[in-house]
Amino acid sequence: MGVVEMKDVRVLFVCLGNICRSPTAQGVFEAQVRQAGLAKQIKIDSAGTSDWHIGAAPDSRTVKAAKKRDYDLSSLRGRQALPEDFQHFDYILAMDADNLAELNKIKPRNYSGHLGLFLDFAKAFEESNVPDPYYGGSQGFDLVLDLIENAGEGLLEHIRSHASQ
Ligand code: 4NP
Repeated sequence: MGVVEMKDVRVLFVCLGNICRSPTAQGVFEAQVRQAGLAKQIKIDSAGTSDWHIGAAPDSRTVKAAKKRDYDLSSLRGRQALPEDFQHFDYILAMDADNLAELNKIKPRNYSGHLGLFLDFAKAFEESNVPDPYYGGSQGFDLVLDLIENAGEGLLEHIRSHASQ
């Protein structure tokens, strides 16, 4: 078997604030993609549906929980999801149904990429939504990581099987 060439793929993860769940998804998926040797082909970003934390670093509890699993999120900064994002990203993946509804409001009619829930790619969990950990305890941040690590594996498998050319 020869080397399988892959098209470039761009992925955007979206939550409400872009300081807890979607930066976690960005950091985890970047690590999974790097480990798979696909960092050149798969580009990753994250954003929030709100404008509340533009320019802000991820929540310190998010950074700490991620660091325990060797993900460094400290250099990420918050930004808002914009209609232009639909011109740039092949996959726009929402952390929960509320964020997905907000994204559907700004989605151009001609968007031909995949807008959906990130956890649809998780195989080991039944949940559809990554629970918002912002107002809860530290175990919420660990659950966010568990869900995201599993969905990231599923997403990578999906992209590898759909993006070869
Ligand atoms: P995220 O979590 O959507 O996962 O980034 C939140 C962050 C901030 C707020 C809510 C959720 N907030 O109310 O400021």
